[in-house]
Amino acid sequence: MSKLSKKILVTGGAGFIGSNFVLDWLSKVGTPVINLDKLTYAGNLENLASIAHDKRHDFVQGDIGDRALVKGLLAEHRPCAVLNFAAESHVDRSIHGPEDFIQTNVVGTFHLLEEVRSYWSTMATEEQSRFRFLHVSTDEVYGSLGAADPAFNETTSYAPNSPYSASKAASDHLVRAYHHTYGLPVLTTNCSNNYGPYHFPEKLIPLILLNALAGKPLPIYGDGQQIRDWLYVLDHCSAIRAVLEKGRVGETYNVGGCNEKTNLDVVHTLCDILDHERPKADGHSYRKQIMYVQDRPGHDRRYAIDAGKIEKELGWRPEHTFETGIRKTVRWYLDNQIWVANVTSGAYRDWVAKNYAR
Ligand code: NAD
Ligand code: DAU
Repeated sequence: MSKLSKKILVTGGAGFIGSNFVLDWLSKVGTPVINLDKLTYAGNLENLASIAHDKRHDFVQGDIGDRALVKGLLAEHRPCAVLNFAAESHVDRSIHGPEDFIQTNVVGTFHLLEEVRSYWSTMATEEQSRFRFLHVSTDEVYGSLGAADPAFNETTSYAPNSPYSASKAASDHLVRAYHHTYGLPVLTTNCSNNYGPYHFPEKLIPLILLNALAGKPLPIYGDGQQIRDWLYVLDHCSAIRAVLEKGRVGETYNVGGCNEKTNLDVVHTLCDILDHERPKADGHSYRKQIMYVQDRPGHDRRYAIDAGKIEKELGWRPEHTFETGIRKTVRWYLDNQIWVANVTSGAYRDWVAKNYAR
């Protein structure tokens, strides 16, 4: 059996975090990436336009649950690591229709794990110990905190409240079980809310930015006092690289930005930056577009991450504060109007046919 290559297999690499990770990996590490993505509504190859002709990037459209496809990719490329970003990721969608979440996040992860286990079992002992399966997960598996509760750490009990978080919790448990039962060298990261370039505008920050610029209402669920911890997406990418490189096999690592904000504070901040960067013709503040709407069912009140373990063990710390990251993010959306227009119109879905016809 041939040796492991230096390639990594990334799943979900056309989504928000996955595409940021692939771009960052190629510029910082540079070893080849096989990118397996189903291209659901959330997958956007335009995110990867800058590497469309880069020979180190091999895009494959497909499902993590397609066992034959995954088996073939593993056998052909013999990656030294598999990083699983692929998921249905939007809480509101999971409330309206949970089935896709169970299918991809639970069943899909199970099929992927089975194929990875089968591939791993063919390796020589030394290769087995070098291989890694890294599962990208969320802080939402821990449930909701009260105002005075300590932040989530790696020993906090799982208490998922939405179909999305329940499906991610199930996938985390499967990953854990494949380590304890079969010895698969796994790593899991549980991260807080990301923001930054290429964020699909169904999520709070890009939705507010795009609605504000389009003169539309800025919807705040409930009283807007729910708290999230925000992390700039490239800081999440650097955390994943640190865990992949130095993380202890079988361990989980919480990743967060130490940036707890209420949703209303986040929206006010976005309005204030836009007021400065792109003042409205009528002289009013974008804050005037804020509209309180019905709350999300089962809405978690507060998330907070204790990132002490990854900092102590792996020396990882975020480079961005919320203030520096959010300014960069607003600038990115203002400077990338074609990406925004294609996402808004749905034209981004034609990108595959246009750019990958070859
Ligand atoms: P996203 O929805 O933007 O992207 C998901 C990607 O997965 C898309 O490109 C989609 O086409 C692909 N995909 C979906 N189902 C697939 C399948 N069956 N097979 C192959 N590809 C499939 O999500 P994101 O925000 O980039 O999140 C990536 C991962 O990080 C997810 O696992 C999510 O749970 C986790 N996470 C996200 C955040 C966040 O704030 N966005 C925070 C912590 C953890
Ligand atoms: O915590 C990590 C999680 O963060 C990830 O696992 C998820 O994949 C990711 O989508 C995100 O989940 P949230 O539900 O926290 O993100 P969202 O952007 O949907 O919402 C952020 C907060 O803003 C949440 O409290 C709901 C609120 N909200 C959201 C939208 C879209 C509003 O008030 N109005 C809105 O229109």
